[in-house]
This record gives sequence, C-alpha cells and structure tokens, in this order.
Amino acid sequence: MHPGVLHRRFLSDLSTSLFSFVLPLLPTSEELTIKEEVRTLIEKLIKTIEPSARLLSFGSSCNSFGLRNSDMDLVVLIDDPDAGLDSSMFVQMIGDLLERETNFDVKPLPKARIPIIKLNLAASPGLPFGIACDIGIENRLAIENTRLLLTYATIDPARVRTLVLFLKVWAKRRRINSPYRGTLSSYGITLMVLYFLVHVKQPPVLPNLQRIAPVRPITEEEMMLESRNVYFFDDVEMLRQEWSSVNFESVGELLIDFFRYFSHDFQFNTMVLSLRAGPLTKESKGWTNDIDVGGLNEMARDRNRLCIEDPFEITYNVARTVTKDGLYTIRGEFMRATRILTQRHDRAVLALAELCR
Ligand code: CTP
Ligand code: MG
Repeated sequence: MHPGVLHRRFLSDLSTSLFSFVLPLLPTSEELTIKEEVRTLIEKLIKTIEPSARLLSFGSSCNSFGLRNSDMDLVVLIDDPDAGLDSSMFVQMIGDLLERETNFDVKPLPKARIPIIKLNLAASPGLPFGIACDIGIENRLAIENTRLLLTYATIDPARVRTLVLFLKVWAKRRRINSPYRGTLSSYGITLMVLYFLVHVKQPPVLPNLQRIAPVRPITEEEMMLESRNVYFFDDVEMLRQEWSSVNFESVGELLIDFFRYFSHDFQFNTMVLSLRAGPLTKESKGWTNDIDVGGLNEMARDRNRLCIEDPFEITYNVARTVTKDGLYTIRGEFMRATRILTQRHDRAVLALAELCR
C-alpha cells in the first residue's frame, strides 16, 4: 500500500485509539457521587466552626480533566469579612474537628507556606483506592483558573479533553508528573496543551478566552480578584454559537504535533509559555536562569528552567518546580514520544501502549 495511505490510516486509527484509551480511565459515577457526599459532609462540619464558610471543589474534580481515583482538591471560602479567622488557626481547628467527628486519616499542616489539611479516606467498594484530599483556605484564584480550564474544555470537548486526559496519563506513567521531584504538576501540563491549541496551532483550535472582549462592559471590580485580572470570556452558549475553529485536525494529528513542537521547536532556554499572551521571552518577564545567585541561593538557579506563566497570577511560574534534570527528562520524553508516533505505522493501540509504558 502507498505510504501516504498507510499514514492516513494510522492517524485515524490513532484518534480512535486515543478515545478508547481514555474512556475507561474516567471516574465512575459512583466515585463522583461519593466524592460529592464527602464534600457535603465536610462542609457541614466546617460550618459548625464558621457558619459563613463554604467548601468548594476545584482542580480536576471539576475542570473536566479528572481521571479515575484522582485526588480531591477542596477549598474553604469564608464569606463573612468579619469572621477574622487566620488560615493557620482555621486549619488547626478544622483538622481537630475532622479528627473528632470522622474516621478519615487527618493531617493538618497549619505551619506550611500555604496551610492545608490533608485527608485520606480508606478504600471502600465504590472507591477501591480510597481518596486523598487536600483542603486549602481562601484560594479564590484556584477556583477561577479551574473555571478557565473548564471553559476551554467545553468549547471542543472531543479534542481538548481527550488530549489533556491522555497527556496526563502519559505524564504520570512516564513519571514526569511529580512537582516534588523536579517535574511538572498536572496543572502545568494542562496549560502546555491549551497553549499549544491556542497559540501554536495555525489556524488555532481554541480562541484566547482572555482576549475576547466582554459582550457588555464590565467594571474594574468585576474583573479583579486579589489585585489580579481574572477576566475571561465565559459565556459558553455564545462560544458554542460564535466560535468554530477552521482547524479540522484530528486528535491523533494534534497529539503528534504537540510532541513534535515540544521536542524541536519550543525554545525552552529563552521562552515563556503564556496562555494569556502567547510566547514571551524569559528576559521580558525577568525569569532568567543565569542570574548570579551562588551560595545559599543556588536553588534559585533552577526556578526558571521551564517557564509557564499562570493565566491570572502572571508573576507566578507554574513550572518553577522543574529542575535542570527534570527538564532534561521531560524533553527526553517528548522526543521519545515523537519517535514512537512517527516511526511505527502499524497499529496505533500498540504505539499508545508503548508510549505509556
Ligand atoms: N493549582 C494552581 N497552581 C499550581 C498548581 C495547581 O493554582 N501551581 C491549582 C489549579 O486550580 C489546578 C488545581 O490547583 O486546577 C489542581 O492542580 P493539579 O492537582 O496539578 O491538577 P489537577 O487537574 O487536579 O490534576 P490531577 O488529576 O493530577 O490531580
Ligand atoms: Mg488535583
């Protein structure tokens, strides 16, 4: 058969295989129900300490990029401005309360840079692996960035969700999803995929939601949260009607191109990925590696190996956890993935299995 025909067949096979790969890894409805019950229970308990407190989910439980058995990210928001609770104290109080009233394994970390409570729920029939859960306090930006990710996913779920979910699994299996060990958070990986779909692909697969003007004028106050501009176009109904991408590439083609772009084209040494603004230089952000730190600050040298600007907290490098070795490993994985997907043109399922080995 002609190589072109074989290649086209491989690509369509790859897209089908990606959908089938991701499907059984999605959370079951039973898991989602239990998680929601846990959230309601904890919220009720927290309200006994502070009646104006609400407990919200964020991260992958509600950005549509959740995988089966992923941990739960929760945040306590206190609506009463006069509550006067300090985060550390509140974390300790909630920790003590949960320890008394539930049989979860509770570990409050009131002295951490960002005080949180860590919870572990034992395994049960509906939750064969139990749940790990982090409860933070007042992290309102995380709620907004979760909503931004969800809105991007809603525009083109078949391509966006499939790509992100697959790449999250791939990154976990290839061990480049460990911020504590010098590689990337899931949030960082997700921002890389969205950046690719908004700013790299021509024509773009997704619009830049932070650059679409609002339909009605909005006030400065509506736009700002903790002195950050958190505006983005979030009218999903209107986006569905008005935005139609003229990029018709299949999810398989996009995946190969994603790996290829980050293997060969992206300039890791000098550039910053900004979902908000497109490519920026490290220099323009003052995120350079070669500041002469030396001595005690030696670690700071590794802060900006890989630069991913947070969409709202734009002075924050989401990939600051990535070390020199971590980046070397990550780039090696992009190259390995490109090699696997561009060399074998027989069965896509086998290529995906090898990719995630
Ligand atoms: N977050 C953030 N800044 C970071 C890391 C995370 O604001 N540097 C917030 C984001 O709101 C993100 C959430 O924390 O959506 C959860 O991050 P993470 O656990 O990395 O992503 P998940 O989508 O929850 O992935 P996983 O399923 O692997 O838990
Ligand atoms: Mg999470």
